[in-house]
Amino acid sequence: MAATIIDGKALATQVKAQVREEAAGLPRKPGLAVILVGDNPASRVYVTSKRKDCEECGFLSEEFALPATTTQKELLSLIDGLNHRDDIDGILCQLPLPQGLNEREVLLAIDPAKDVDCFHPYNVGLLTIGEPRFQPCTPGGVMEMLKTYGISPAGKRCVVLGRSNIVGKPMALLLLHAHGTVTVCHSKTPNMAELAAEADILVSAVGKTGLVTGDMVKEGAVVIDVAMNRNAAGKLCGDVCYAEAAEKASFITPVPGGVGPMTRAMLMRNTLTAARMHLG
Ligand code: GUN
Repeated sequence: MAATIIDGKALATQVKAQVREEAAGLPRKPGLAVILVGDNPASRVYVTSKRKDCEECGFLSEEFALPATTTQKELLSLIDGLNHRDDIDGILCQLPLPQGLNEREVLLAIDPAKDVDCFHPYNVGLLTIGEPRFQPCTPGGVMEMLKTYGISPAGKRCVVLGRSNIVGKPMALLLLHAHGTVTVCHSKTPNMAELAAEADILVSAVGKTGLVTGDMVKEGAVVIDVAMNRNAAGKLCGDVCYAEAAEKASFITPVPGGVGPMTRAMLMRNTLTAARMHLG
């Protein structure tokens, strides 16, 4: 049976339309500040997309493009200023930072009430105990996709490939809170293929083209591909061998057009949540 393709692009458009409508009812526009240090080309693309998303949602957006030579002190001083601005609800510092800058210190400097990425340890703590104010954007987007397509993780075997702070770990937590039985695989897992093949819901967030082959997908599994890789021909692709996996999966996300647009839509929703919080 052919897999149903989960249309992240269409769903993201719906989420953003709803965010726009809700934002229009607030006494002022939600405001998002995006900081980009250095000239990582992928980061540049993400930041431009975020500006477009803000326009679509009727938000105020401010972009701070800083040179790679920016010092830690300068970056912290910019964040401190943004923390104190009443018209800025969300602050996002695009990662990775250029060498020499301390990422941990930067994430700690962002006011947790403006941490729309949900990267501050305070917000990670709230997420861990199951009381998040903000949804981590990529895993939150995945949960929204599952919900929309009527897929409940409750009682299901969920296998997450990758244990990053941005995706793998928070993804595992959200699936756990949704009552899934969760296994996290990583570079030291000796039997990743075997564990993946047991999954009812398989989420791959490793960043390795061709990692998930058809034999790692159980018949009828839901396959979510979070990765954004470039293959040898320079084409955007995920971790999953799409054609092979789609033959066995019940639902599958494409790359591009799957998780990526949902991540951005969730950032807009978090910024709206932050604005509501700040407006009381
Ligand atoms: N770099 C890659 N993904 C992300 C993200 O979701 N947020 C930030 N701030 N940087 C990233």
